[in-house]
Amino acid sequence: MTSTTKPEKCAEVREEIDRLNADAKTADKFMEGITRVLHEKMLKYNWVGFYMLERGAQEPVLLLGPYQGAMTPHTRIPLHQGICGAAASTGRTVVVDDVSKDSRYLACSIETKSEIVVPVFAHGDVVGELDIDSHFPAAFGEEDRDLVEYCAHLVGKRLETEGKTRS
Ligand code: SME
Repeated sequence: MTSTTKPEKCAEVREEIDRLNADAKTADKFMEGITRVLHEKMLKYNWVGFYMLERGAQEPVLLLGPYQGAMTPHTRIPLHQGICGAAASTGRTVVVDDVSKDSRYLACSIETKSEIVVPVFAHGDVVGELDIDSHFPAAFGEEDRDLVEYCAHLVGKRLETEGKTRS
């Protein structure tokens, strides 16, 4: 039996994210703030971070951006690897209730049991993603998904406004 996050808790955190969006001077500051708020306020969110898509001369790669939690060995992830690669290449949210059963999973911490990865879109293109790991199995229910997708949506809008949509 798993307990999902209460709607009231998500609503409270959403308000905090809205305040942050109003106060943050840049998209980078906003993203840093999101990782901090989600990591602090959502007890099952044990690692919270952004990966941003770099479309260089060679194959596109996801580069680690602002994050909270333990250091990760995965600072660069190609699109054909990991749950992160799957979310970015399909442009769809990926929720994995038990990472040990998903062959795509790239281990970050031995304690991680479940994960959610939500793409960030700007002008209709995937430009990055918000990745969250939990030490609890099936930690990400509908309320969590809505909250994380809300954060990713706001970041996409900020990036559009700043014109930072392609690298
Ligand atoms: N687990 C991710 C890699 C990133 S770490 O979780 C921070 C994946 O499978 O893509």
